[in-house]
Amino acid sequence: MADYIYTMEIRLTPDQQRGVTLVQDIARGAGMNIYLTGGAVRDIISGFSIRDLDFTVQGNPLKLQKELERAGAVISGSEDDLKVLYLTLPGNVRAEISSSRTERYEKAGKPPVVTPATIIEDLKRRDFTINAMALSLNPGSRGLLMDPFNGAADIENKVLRILHNYAFVEDPSRLLRASRFSARFGWPLEERTQARFESAKENNYIEYISDRAIGHEIEQLAYEDDPLQILKVLEKENWLKVLNPHWTTAKVDTAGLSQLLKTRQQMNELGYTPDPSAAVLYFLTAKLGDKDITDMRKLIPRKTLVDTWKHLEDEAKDLSKRLSGKEAATPSRAWKLLSEEPPENILFLAVTVRQQAVDQKIKNFFTKWRQVQQKVPLAEMTELHINPQMPEYPKIAHEVFMLLLDGKLRSHTEIMKFLKPLAPPPPPPPPPPPAKRGRAAKAVAATAVGQAGIQAPAALGTAKKKKGKGDIAAPPIPAPVAIPANAATAPAGKAKKAEKEKPAAKPVHVTKAATKTPAKPVKKSAKPAAKKTAKKKH
Ligand code: CTP
Repeated sequence: MADYIYTMEIRLTPDQQRGVTLVQDIARGAGMNIYLTGGAVRDIISGFSIRDLDFTVQGNPLKLQKELERAGAVISGSEDDLKVLYLTLPGNVRAEISSSRTERYEKAGKPPVVTPATIIEDLKRRDFTINAMALSLNPGSRGLLMDPFNGAADIENKVLRILHNYAFVEDPSRLLRASRFSARFGWPLEERTQARFESAKENNYIEYISDRAIGHEIEQLAYEDDPLQILKVLEKENWLKVLNPHWTTAKVDTAGLSQLLKTRQQMNELGYTPDPSAAVLYFLTAKLGDKDITDMRKLIPRKTLVDTWKHLEDEAKDLSKRLSGKEAATPSRAWKLLSEEPPENILFLAVTVRQQAVDQKIKNFFTKWRQVQQKVPLAEMTELHINPQMPEYPKIAHEVFMLLLDGKLRSHTEIMKFLKPLAPPPPPPPPPPPAKRGRAAKAVAATAVGQAGIQAPAALGTAKKKKGKGDIAAPPIPAPVAIPANAATAPAGKAKKAEKEKPAAKPVHVTKAATKTPAKPVKKSAKPAAKKTAKKKH
């Protein structure tokens, strides 16, 4: 049994991985078998970027809605008759959960008769072999690839192949999909598929496309990496007017679209991951009439996408107004405002902004102000023991950054003047050496060790060091010189918590240092002392 779990895990982004676990656990909790299907499996195997997660469950995914929302998912639409749930998982992960079903087409142009089915039967209703694979997420078979049409081989051969001769008749949207996937991957249609494609075109099967499929395909354009390229291909094949009779590539704001994708790339490089889909639709339809746009919006299944698209301009206007007003009068205020704004709004405004002052603030946010961040005087702060172990550290570092942004800390002297009062008090002196040395002291230590549960402080330090992480925080160990007392004790608690969650979390080192250092002044531990005493007794 081939195990694709490893492949899946290395190919998914961390957010997508968490998304898979989340949906899988909720489906399992509800007693439903669950599979990763469709484009997600295709992209995992082919190496193309995984754009969204398609799940198929044996059961009704609409029943999982509440549990998914509780776990932080946003439901963005649903199709009650087909039992499909559209959602966005934490971290902006787009997902779709369908119920496994068969589709029986009795007449061209009529919706299919849908019946609940097993996963293998479900795969038979799909469009292309490369999209007709499923990866089990169920205990016992997790990682098993189901590939009844040998889609993996077609991925290997880089071809698109329909599952049977009636594929385009049954669902004419497969004609658009064939053109779209072929353009996206640069893969041709396999010979028989090409022949069926031509024949379907000649017979104008496309007129039987359903409104549901039109809406789905319009939406899919929003997620393409190069939507204009796809639009051109759809236009060439005469499919674009199927999506809307007045849609041509001339109706696209090409400059806006290319600026959008460029700015999105820049934002990605800075660590922002704005979802550009609504803005993509905005530019793709920029020169279409209002009625056409309204008609298209009605058909799109993900209502949250439509809402965002509808409000893009108003959100941008509002942000622009705030950026020109008091709220953003200083660089630090503008930084704060922009940092708290959804990245989608910044992206759209960055591309459509007209006011020069606002444009400049957004540019500064992405470039100049970030360079100021590099000027936060970390060396001086460390010198003053203002370091990440202090709970107040993020606040202080942020404040310094804000003052630097506003030009209020201009020199080293000014920086030190600001920082000094924030430095923690010096650490307490190391413990005094033991008052007594020699036989009497050793005898006392030996007696203490002999009593169950009671240990001399020095022995305690050594024993704890040997035992490891779990016991470290208990003894009253003075902080090491390098770490200020109040900084070392506070994170010790945090470190314990972090240890439970993440085994190698940084604060552990702090606690380790804290155990090591105090052990130094007490050169001999109680245990060897006890041994020695015992020997001498003989
Ligand atoms: N599907 C189908 N026929 C359609 C639409 C969808 O068979 N007309 C099936 C395919 O198995 C497809 C899956 O549903 O892979 C998910 O559909 P969709 O999200 O539209 O496409 P993806 O293949 O996921 O492609 P993309 O990368 O564009 O998201």
